[in-house]
Amino acid sequence: MIRNQWYAIFPSRKLPKKGMTALTRLGERLLLWRNHDRSVNCIYDRCVHRGASLAAGQLVENEPECPFHGLRYNGKGECTLIPANGRAADIPVQFKVRSYHTKDRYGFIWIWWGDLRENYPDLPFFDDIDDSFSWAEREDPWPMHYSRCIENQLDAVHLPFVHRTTIGAGNKTVVNGPGVVLEHDQIRFWVHNELDRGQTPIAPSEYPAGDTARQHLHFIFPHIWQNWLTSKMRIVIAFTPVDEENTLIYLRMYQKVMKIPLLKHIVNAVFMVFNMIILHQDRRVVITQLPKKSTLKMDEQLISGDLPIIEYRKIRDKLLKKQA
Ligand code: FES
Ligand SMILES: [Fe+2]
Repeated sequence: MIRNQWYAIFPSRKLPKKGMTALTRLGERLLLWRNHDRSVNCIYDRCVHRGASLAAGQLVENEPECPFHGLRYNGKGECTLIPANGRAADIPVQFKVRSYHTKDRYGFIWIWWGDLRENYPDLPFFDDIDDSFSWAEREDPWPMHYSRCIENQLDAVHLPFVHRTTIGAGNKTVVNGPGVVLEHDQIRFWVHNELDRGQTPIAPSEYPAGDTARQHLHFIFPHIWQNWLTSKMRIVIAFTPVDEENTLIYLRMYQKVMKIPLLKHIVNAVFMVFNMIILHQDRRVVITQLPKKSTLKMDEQLISGDLPIIEYRKIRDKLLKKQA
């Protein structure tokens, strides 16, 4: 997993106004809770004293109190009280758990999974999705490293096989392109598939790419993807890493074709049923891939239609080396 990046880790609406929520993300046990102004705290869920989970304790004056011996922590992860030593006692600086900077935006709780700093980069989300869209969301757990889940949505070759009965019907097996555009650790690509009539497919380098008003796929590192269907309809996924072998897929349908209050939610719900059928067609195959995680140098033979996946692996490798 790539450090010093923003990750969407949890749906904002699921984090209550009061109380704590414990979750495992990015291989770490984390604890979330809100302040009175609704801003969010995120600290390690492991007491520095003797390792108990703070989640089983309670909030006292909006600070988690360890259920074992009552140590308390603030939102920066600093211990504020060691009851056995008395209120008047100084608290040594090493009584501190790791904390992460958070944001509550676009319906997600985000954490900056890395060092605390003065300034943070913008959240990696799509600036062409605004409040004029309505959306629905489903969560789907996949027992795979998130790199494999992401690559599945950058895969231009699998449609006529994995989605034979849905979006890949028609046996269009020949892949023209994909034409790939890279910019600031973002990948966009355009592709179209055809029936095999014995023709030579258009090479990725020859394929027309870059028209953002035409259907294309768009990925922003480290883990946000959209299928840009039309200016009024999108499918968005946050591939949230749980640990090295598990990912939560937050799948959203955004649309502004139907704007009538109640009807728009019905339309979104119907689209989501269809999207989940497609997602589970993917899941059935992706969870059989070995190894469960992809890397730039691995024992696989890729083809020109896999160009977006190759670019993904290259950028991921670059970012991993940068953090090292
Ligand atoms: S383990 Fe948390 S206070 Fe002792
Ligand atoms: Fe698919």
